[in-house]
Amino acid sequence: MKVLFVASECAPFVKTGGLADVIGAVPKALAQTGAEARVMLPAYPALRPLAEQAKEVWSLPDLMGGQARLLACSAEGIDLLLLDAPHLYDRPGAIYLGSDGQDWPDNAERFAALSRAAAAVGTGALEDWQPDLVNMHDWQAGLVPAYMSQLSANPPPTVMTIHNIAFQGLYDPKLMKKLGLERRHFTRDGAEFWGQLGFLKAGLAMADRITTVSPTYARELMLPEFGMGLEGLMRYRRQDLTGILNGIDTDVWNPATDPHIAARYTSRGLRSRQKNRRALMKRFGLEDGPGPLFCVISRLTTQKGLDLLLEALPWLVSQGGRLAVLGSGDRALETGFAAAVHKWPGAVGAVIGYDEPLSHLMQAGSDAILIPSRFEPCGLTQLYGLRYGTLPVVARTGGLADTVIDANEAALAANVATGVQFAPVTTAALEDAISRTCDLFAQPDVWAGMMRRAMKHPVGWDSAANDYMALYRGLVGAET
Ligand code: ADP
Ligand code: GLC
Repeated sequence: MKVLFVASECAPFVKTGGLADVIGAVPKALAQTGAEARVMLPAYPALRPLAEQAKEVWSLPDLMGGQARLLACSAEGIDLLLLDAPHLYDRPGAIYLGSDGQDWPDNAERFAALSRAAAAVGTGALEDWQPDLVNMHDWQAGLVPAYMSQLSANPPPTVMTIHNIAFQGLYDPKLMKKLGLERRHFTRDGAEFWGQLGFLKAGLAMADRITTVSPTYARELMLPEFGMGLEGLMRYRRQDLTGILNGIDTDVWNPATDPHIAARYTSRGLRSRQKNRRALMKRFGLEDGPGPLFCVISRLTTQKGLDLLLEALPWLVSQGGRLAVLGSGDRALETGFAAAVHKWPGAVGAVIGYDEPLSHLMQAGSDAILIPSRFEPCGLTQLYGLRYGTLPVVARTGGLADTVIDANEAALAANVATGVQFAPVTTAALEDAISRTCDLFAQPDVWAGMMRRAMKHPVGWDSAANDYMALYRGLVGAET
């Protein structure tokens, strides 16, 4: 089974969020099931060193206004196809945003080009490698089926994976000509979304199957509160829609071997975890208190519900809790957390920015991780939390609902609890969850039991890899 993954991020090379972690991990997990996955992604500046040693396998003199080449290489156990198109990707700044913090004005061309190149590979452009199936990830890859239908009468089957339906890639349909998209795709059962050209919409309408990253989010997508205007299409395609829960890379995220933390540990030696807690407190200028040390590791956006945490902060601090925040994003949230550090020195600390090694230390040294998301397709930080014994305190939505077992009376009595869930996503419910967490923390035996259980919770990719493989087999035919 040969599968082409098409995505805009892939850890450890280029990452802005969980999508990268998933794209960096699934191919390795699929390899265990006998599948061979290649990941196509743009050759951003961060990938230049790899690109320079890669082998050219395809080229096009004009792809959205400039020359493009596909470069094949392997790194970190992943087979990559890098789309080298300097006019689109070789520029300073972030991968989606310019230095003014706005989307690059040519993002439509940049990611249509990715889909167009993937469509070429899907329809036989490479001499020595023909995928049996193309798996597109998020809006950046949504146009692959449209382009493939223009290139071939018999394209391979496709799977569209939704990591976040809030990002849809909506553009002016006037761009279609420039993008080389035939007008016939601009229909209600094609790329049209309320008069706009929708990249994700096109993928969702045209892919053979749709997956998303948790079973609960798959159900939520059919509801107006979560579907972001695509709920009707999701309901229409419900027979083709599956939720496959993400895993995490348990080699990269392993407290017994993690090179980024102050002291390595296992569930049998939790005492040495204290060293990480102390290192973390020091790094964030915190003084120990009677309550738990909470952390947040997140993009600071409305999705993540952290405005509610700012409102609940007086309560958290009054309960003797401590908070360490690592994140960046919306200016109002960044300044809100900076102001909180000022208001509660020693109790609240924040690092505004992106810091991968620090995120590991936070998972290894915190008592609990707060994730009050309004919606969360899967969420990975609660999975890292489970693995590191940092108990997740989460909104009951999407993948958070599917991965954390709430410490209610019955779950505690049955010895299955691994964290705290709350609903609805309001400040009052979050405050209540913080109180419950503090109560549990005040019972060291109960807390330690939950930590040990959390650390044993299965968070790897095995089960998801089998599910993807079963889906692929169903599409390609049993002979592969
Ligand atoms: P999303 O993809 O919606 O941002 P996920 O929970 O799926 O949410 O994934 C977020 C990923 O990004 C995790 O690997 C998390 O550790 C990482 N991350 C988020 N913010 C930061 C940050 N400021 N510094 C380091 N890592 C971060
Ligand atoms: C998206 C979602 C997040 C998910 C990640 C990986 O960024 O917001 O919930 O974990 O994709 O699938």
